[in-house]
Amino acid sequence: MRLAKYLADAGIASRRRAEDIIRQKRVKVNGFTAELPQTEVEESDNVTVDGKKVRGSEKKVYLLLNKPTGYISTAVDTHDRPTVIDLLKKVKERVYPVGRLDADTSGALILTNDGKLAYRLTHPRYGIKKTYRALVKGIPGKKILDKMAKGLLIENRKTAPAEIKLIDRDKKQNLAMLQIVLTEGKKRQVKKMCSAAGYPVVQLQRINFAGLTVDELAVGSYRVLKADEKRRLYDMVGLKQ
Ligand code: URA
Repeated sequence: MRLAKYLADAGIASRRRAEDIIRQKRVKVNGFTAELPQTEVEESDNVTVDGKKVRGSEKKVYLLLNKPTGYISTAVDTHDRPTVIDLLKKVKERVYPVGRLDADTSGALILTNDGKLAYRLTHPRYGIKKTYRALVKGIPGKKILDKMAKGLLIENRKTAPAEIKLIDRDKKQNLAMLQIVLTEGKKRQVKKMCSAAGYPVVQLQRINFAGLTVDELAVGSYRVLKADEKRRLYDMVGLKQ
């Protein structure tokens, strides 16, 4: 099997992220640095990432974190900044975030070592819904909100249709709270959409990811997903248990 798939199946990272890790020359196969994600490996090969042996059959774990601001959502940071993994002190398995939230964004983030599920939850084909609350500078009217919902041109690409509504406003401070539901997840998409419309984001929170909310989770804490929640995620992306 291809090395990137092997790493994803072993729960090291999603397939796309595993490709990055290989290109960063962090993976060795039988003592030799792997050069390409498509390198073929077999179960009997000795594979290491950052010098640590990859085990093929690690127990699968599924966590929901209420991410605080100030933490980056990659598993390893080359600049020594705190990462969301630092918030999972008691978790022995090597999990990684499903998709990403900016360091200054808080809210719902799934972490797992289930590479197949992670890959599908972030792939635009499956249209997984993500709900954000964005505090923006300025108070957009209905016309501009409709335009944002239909799709805006950002970096020469039109955004997919979204649901957007104004849920609160403060005329004195000239601020508005928008609720935005996206089915795609381009880098910094909410901030780019709001800026393109002329309403820069002041504060951003993701309140729901794939139907999972963080209403009852204190900021900075996490919980293990219930069996039926995991089953629902599998169903959403057409995976069999
Ligand atoms: N959109 C953003 O701009 N930032 C995030 O963290 C998530 C979505």
